[in-house]
Amino acid sequence: MTLLEVRDLTVTYPGGAEAVRGVDLSLEAGRKLGVAGESGCGKSTLALALLRLLPAGTKVGGQVLLDGEDVLTMRWGRVRAVRWAGASIVFQGAMHSLNPVHRVGDQIAEPILLHGDATPSAAKRRAGELLEQVGLPGARARAYPHELSGGQRQRVMIAMALACDPRLVIADEPTTALDVMIQAQILRLIEQLVSEQELGLIMISHDLAVLADTCDRLAVMYAGRVVEEGPARAVYEDALHPYGKALSSAFPRIGDPASRFAPRGLAGDPPDPADLPSGCTFHPRCPVALDACAVEDPWLREAGTGRRAACVHVGATVPPPAGPAEDVRSTT
Ligand SMILES: Nc1ncnc2c1ncn2[C@@H]1O[C@H](COP(=O)(O)OP(=O)(O)OP(=O)(O)O)[C@@H](O)[C@H]1O
Ligand code: SF4
Ligand SMILES: [Mg+2]
Repeated sequence: MTLLEVRDLTVTYPGGAEAVRGVDLSLEAGRKLGVAGESGCGKSTLALALLRLLPAGTKVGGQVLLDGEDVLTMRWGRVRAVRWAGASIVFQGAMHSLNPVHRVGDQIAEPILLHGDATPSAAKRRAGELLEQVGLPGARARAYPHELSGGQRQRVMIAMALACDPRLVIADEPTTALDVMIQAQILRLIEQLVSEQELGLIMISHDLAVLADTCDRLAVMYAGRVVEEGPARAVYEDALHPYGKALSSAFPRIGDPASRFAPRGLAGDPPDPADLPSGCTFHPRCPVALDACAVEDPWLREAGTGRRAACVHVGATVPPPAGPAEDVRSTT
């Protein structure tokens, strides 16, 4: 069975921001899916929706099937059990959110005590083992967060995410605040843990190059939608969607003098999710827009083996999912 199947996921915040608009994704155990896109395109909202962590009053529609069970319709008791043990999140900027007055070992032991029947001493022992697993000496369990470097704190957050042996780990910008050497170490660590433990990984980043290096597949989001999806290297090196192309050309490549001396950005700003443009939401910024793009909203189309892109210039149309149009729930 597919580990995670997201079907026609929609999220509308109180106030009307349509932050996620009909996202379909799937992930098998032991595989790594990257989610990329500019600031504000809905990446963190998507991650939070997967575990029903959005603020009260937010409307969420669609399905999030974790091992076939829909997280969006679970009772709260079951949701609490699934968080940590079924799936866990390393939050964006999380290394700054460790509790400064508690030893890191106690913070790692806490979810183990809450979600299992371990004794306090067994949970402590497990916390030490988890620290070793992420490359820190077990004795660092006695350290307070301020006694650790940024990279070490991020390792603690990863250890915490692994504490209850989840099947799925969602890492939201896990390396953004770290220098490049530590970033590389953390990425290799995540890759190693995924392959050793057959985890599924969703890794979110605005950095396409990092995702192409780490993940098997890559989904590019724009204005709350996946506009391109496919094998990570292929999307990075030869994007089909004009936005995917612009995003990947914004990153200089080793060995490509043209990109080094003239890294290309994208003019204009992403749209306000409470006031989206008509038609293709990318049309005001798109260098190859047709007149029809201001009116017609393209769905993801098949674009070669295992690739999809949502643009009139790409392949044949795959019909939109026939999900229930009014299946909208509140997270409260
Ligand atoms: N609690 C909230 N209430 C209302 N709108 C929100 C809330 N959280 C996020 N948004 C809006 O939803 C949109 C998507 O935000 P989100 O945080 O998911 O983007 P992101 O892709 O993770 O961006 P970044 O790369 O900066 O982390 C943004 O326009 C944001 O302003
Ligand atoms: S559908 Fe039109 S506006 Fe949208 S990306 Fe394709 S060409 Fe550009
Ligand atoms: Mg974010």
